[in-house]
Amino acid sequence: MDNETSTGHVTRKAVLRAALAAGMAAPAVLMGVPALARTLTAGEAVPALTPACDDGDDPTPPQTEGPYFKPNSPRRTSLLEAGTPGIRLTVSGYVFGLACKPIPGVLLDFWQADTNGAYDNSGFRFRGHQFTDARGAFALTTIVPGLYPGRTRHLHVKLQAPGRPVLTTQLYFPNEPRNNTDTIFDPRLLMTVRDAGGAREAAFDFVLNVPQDPGPSPTPSPTGTPGGTWAAGTAYRAGDTVTYGGPGYVCLQAHTAQAGWEPPNVPALWRLR
Ligand SMILES: [Fe+2]
Repeated sequence: MDNETSTGHVTRKAVLRAALAAGMAAPAVLMGVPALARTLTAGEAVPALTPACDDGDDPTPPQTEGPYFKPNSPRRTSLLEAGTPGIRLTVSGYVFGLACKPIPGVLLDFWQADTNGAYDNSGFRFRGHQFTDARGAFALTTIVPGLYPGRTRHLHVKLQAPGRPVLTTQLYFPNEPRNNTDTIFDPRLLMTVRDAGGAREAAFDFVLNVPQDPGPSPTPSPTGTPGGTWAAGTAYRAGDTVTYGGPGYVCLQAHTAQAGWEPPNVPALWRLR
């Protein structure tokens, strides 16, 4: 996975710290899905761009004029309307550029099927656009989209950073049977999803092809690796304990450790003791 770096440096992105400080929901399901871009280690990898994905049922008119995409959908972060049936879903995350810095003011235009798998092609049910905030964060409140013939479960989204081209893509759900048979499905677009009292909480970080000043180089740790009992390649189970760079950590979810998933980097997997 391009998003996972291969060095033992313990330095982390300022954006990661910002994300944690902001209390972003930590993904509870990491196995089999891409790492969130916010877990990238500073200065050590070019983030993998979020790929485009389109199934042709996009009724949003293409951009015809002006430097900026102008969707017709209402500006709103919640697609829920009174009496909306369906399993509640929140999707939150960040939009990053090529230096893995968050981008404020990115337009995200979401649309999806209702719980029965139907799109509203005459009105704006389950359609809405929003902009990333000063931290490059977005949050959508909606329902889990229903299935329709020929496709696996998905959300549509168009993204546009100021003055940049539109990216049209989709987001997917882990552990969907149809993911394996849908020819449009792309595992790089899997969200991390967890159950939350009957609702679903999903996270996804987008990476757009937006040049950014990488800023000052991170300071590598003097020894290269901070030391401890944690080791890449080890299969850890929930409750296992390790040390890394001095502090101890408790494993929250079974996984096989790999470079880039050092305990300080993945709060979804390791809790500081
Ligand atoms: Fe669709």
